[in-house]
Amino acid sequence: MLKRFSISLEENLLESFDAYILAQSYNNRSEAIRDLIRKSLVKQAWENDSQVMGVITLVYDHHQPQLQEKVTEVQHNFHQHIVSTTHVHMDHSFCLEVIIVKGKAKEIQDLTDRLTALRGIRDGHLAMSSTGKELS
Ligand code: NI
Repeated sequence: MLKRFSISLEENLLESFDAYILAQSYNNRSEAIRDLIRKSLVKQAWENDSQVMGVITLVYDHHQPQLQEKVTEVQHNFHQHIVSTTHVHMDHSFCLEVIIVKGKAKEIQDLTDRLTALRGIRDGHLAMSSTGKELS
């Protein structure tokens, strides 16, 4: 059920918010506020070590000795957290690996750190997302 409530804001803050809404292509303030609330809830879920989902992205040169094996070994050590892995051979040297993960936030962060710290990983980061339960 949709509920309505009013918000009081300083004029300058509202002007800044409206500029943000325009820049982000939101249709209205309500949709922008809903998204900001959801972003805060996702952030809180990660801070509270709740059940979360995320996507780890890695870019690396597969010619780096043993790197491919290490990337696979770390994922096997965290197999219960891995939902799916997609490997793309981008060119002669570079690979892109996208790993969809789920579990407690701290364990997912630990898994991410172990992967991104491997010697030869050129780009590595985690997109923190949600199981969706708290967002409806
Ligand atoms: Ni490859």
